[in-house]
Amino acid sequence: MDEADRAFAGALEACADLDTLLRLKGAYVGREGSHAARMMDLLKAAPKEQKRELGAAVNAFKQRWEEGLKARQADLEAAKKAVGASSWDATLPPPMPARGALHPLNRLMDRLVDVFRPLGFHVEEGPEVETEEHNFDGLNIPADHPARGSADTFYLAAHPGRLLRTHTSPVQVQTLKRYGKDGARLLNEKGGIRFLAPGRVYRKDEIDPTHSPMFHQVEGMLVGHGIGMQHLKGTLEYALRALFGPHTEIRLRPSYFPFVEPGCEVDVSCPLCAAKGCRVCKGSGWVEILGAGLIHPNVLEFAGIDSKEWSGWAFGMGVERMAMMLSQTPDLRLFFENDQRFLEAMGGLD
Ligand code: DAH
Repeated sequence: MDEADRAFAGALEACADLDTLLRLKGAYVGREGSHAARMMDLLKAAPKEQKRELGAAVNAFKQRWEEGLKARQADLEAAKKAVGASSWDATLPPPMPARGALHPLNRLMDRLVDVFRPLGFHVEEGPEVETEEHNFDGLNIPADHPARGSADTFYLAAHPGRLLRTHTSPVQVQTLKRYGKDGARLLNEKGGIRFLAPGRVYRKDEIDPTHSPMFHQVEGMLVGHGIGMQHLKGTLEYALRALFGPHTEIRLRPSYFPFVEPGCEVDVSCPLCAAKGCRVCKGSGWVEILGAGLIHPNVLEFAGIDSKEWSGWAFGMGVERMAMMLSQTPDLRLFFENDQRFLEAMGGLD
């Protein structure tokens, strides 16, 4: 190999980046001042009879260098691309994997359960596909009650008599029946019943900011000896203060549900404005939070429990309603769209 070729090969080998390569290119094959350009100058000055031979030699040099430069450039470009694809900067904060968490509605239901657990309440679960017997009959809901119509209730076409439960109250019937079996053996053994039943319920409602065909309720029930309204009121006052703060007041308004007698609706003093009057309580200082009452004797008797010996109370509350109030979320649908930004902002429900 010629001296000039050897020098070129060494310089090319040492060339580790494209900038250096560009400079090398200028030095060897550039238009002016390069090795090739100087060779051309010498060629011009050479005797005529040598020009042909020298010209061929100069061209051969130039061609070899150009090829070498081109090959090296391709290598360096490929290397740069590969590094770019896998490159990482140790000084950047690492991408954090998104942390999973319970849905805000589940967290709120968990909180309710946590409030009642120290009072001896456990959790009962019932199926979402229910029978008319559990969803209506066992709850003293008459055969001609409008809620039984197919305009309000999802009936399962392939399974006559089956429906998607319209409330969590059928868990009352399921549980009472279990405790009332064998002459109320379990009821006597445990000295009563205390449970919460959180879960999904279904109604044929059009979707809008305050309605959804699927929503959540929490049912509560207590059966014992000599249970009256005072126990219901005392327990709810305790639980709702634990939920909304120690200064919360509650008020009971008479209302009607077939499965309780007497029945009532329960309001809490608005936890957002301390009952001064705001948008959430519509200026009244009170927000309705649940339906409740003393268990109708028919409900106990239906499950095989002697209503002269046993009595109790029950309540049912809407979870979305409460979550919307606590978080001041104006649109119920946000809870079901699972937009991560919304879910993350709902941390306040804990
Ligand atoms: N099941 C009723 C509803 O969905 C709520 C309810 C009211 C439940 C009174 C109860 C109760 O247990 O005592 O509207």
